[in-house]
Amino acid sequence: MRKKIYFVLPVIVFIGIMFLTASHNPPLNISGDFKYVGVSTCVGACHKTDAQGKQLDIWKASKHAQAFTTLQSADADKIAADKGFTTPAAETPACVKCHVLGKDIVESELESTFDKTEGVQCESCHGPGSDYKKLSVMKDKQKSIENGLVVHTEKEAFCTQCHNSDSPTFKGFNYDEMWDKIKHPKPVE
Ligand code: HEC
Ligand code: HEC
Ligand code: HEC
Repeated sequence: MRKKIYFVLPVIVFIGIMFLTASHNPPLNISGDFKYVGVSTCVGACHKTDAQGKQLDIWKASKHAQAFTTLQSADADKIAADKGFTTPAAETPACVKCHVLGKDIVESELESTFDKTEGVQCESCHGPGSDYKKLSVMKDKQKSIENGLVVHTEKEAFCTQCHNSDSPTFKGFNYDEMWDKIKHPKPVE
């Protein structure tokens, strides 16, 4: 009898945790097949003009745009080797995770225009764009969200999914200072 409890209890706890975390997840991937399309598709003719707020230039000037190439260096390979990895940093999923999408790269979630060497890119933060990139969808925020756009209300908590002590080079994260370096709002008309 006792032994059975030892077995059953952890299973119940596990199912409970799965249930709780599932119900707290943001409504990402509702249809389950949104795809990553890459920076140039996201930017299109829009997110580079003065009127729209020059998101492309701001992102290009940020270190996020270099996050993958950073891994292609002797310094990065040494950090990976010191951590016990046997592959170069740019081929080590545990490094690539934070330096591109914030999760593992899955081939079936990519369109051919996606380019991992663009590092931490628009869709790393805004969600896979295949279904919300259309102007008719993009114009309507609610429709965009239903089609995969992620809007952040808890920005600091979002940033620290990557900016945390799991980063081998972590030097702390001052949200206000860091947001100031990368903010790219749409100007108010
Ligand atoms: C998907 C992971 C990821 C997310 C999410 C993320 N970052 Fe980063 N960030 C990085 C990586 C990786 C670097 C280092 C890039 C490099 O140096 O090659 C970086 C670098 C930066 C830098 C440059 C640091 C410096 O010293 O100038 C700033 C600023 C920054 N991030 C701000 C933010 C802010 C603000 C947020 C949230 C709105 C955020 N990041 C979200 C991964 C991420
Ligand atoms: C490191 C994460 C990060 C990256 C990379 C990033 N963004 Fe953002 N972006 C944010 C956050 C956070 C906000 C403010 C909150 C929100 O609107 O979700 C924002 C806001 C915006 C807004 C303004 C929305 C509004 O209503 O004012 C636009 C447009 C935008 N981003 C487009 C882009 C484009 C295009 C790229 C790529 C060239 C990009 N972003 C790259 C995190 C990021
Ligand atoms: C938890 C997310 C995360 C992981 C995992 C991660 N990085 Fe980073 N990496 C970052 C962030 C964020 C930065 C920006 C500086 C900082 O705050 O750590 C960064 C910066 C760097 C830099 C630039 C150094 C600097 O001082 O700015 C190098 C090189 C680097 N990472 C290599 C690696 C390697 C190699 C691995 C795998 C062993 C790895 N990273 C794993 C998030 C991560």
